[in-house]
Amino acid sequence: MIDWAGLRWSARDAAQHAYAPYSGLRVGAAGITSRGEVLSSCNVENASFGLTLCAECGLVSALALSGGGKLSAVSVADSDGKALLPCGRCRQLLHEHGSAELLVDAGSEVPPHRLAELLPLAFGPEDLPAKGVEP
Ligand code: THU
Repeated sequence: MIDWAGLRWSARDAAQHAYAPYSGLRVGAAGITSRGEVLSSCNVENASFGLTLCAECGLVSALALSGGGKLSAVSVADSDGKALLPCGRCRQLLHEHGSAELLVDAGSEVPPHRLAELLPLAFGPEDLPAKGVEP
């Protein structure tokens, strides 16, 4: 059973730490790992704009730092706790670091989405040639 309200609260809390002077949109992402830990992160913007790091980028980095594994549930929220859906690039990041049935918060009114709904027919590690095999 996933505590979506708690996870959204963690995302909201993380959003308070965002560095978002350009867009003004402070975003937090929180995820539950396959080990049952809750991790979170926030967006960090850059004057070059293009180098901005979404909150989910920090989340997958926190996952690696915490010992790896996969994310089983993710909530992304603004600083008021309103659920946001991950951008396209972050859906790809979550595909790589999420379990096969990764669930993504859609807000308190509706059921969560499966990542596979948000990024159907995704490209992934299995689409790369096997290591050590000549092309
Ligand atoms: N942002 C995220 O952190 N995650 C997303 O999935 C969508 C967008 C951030 C990036 C930028 O700092 C701000 O929201 C406006 O796009």
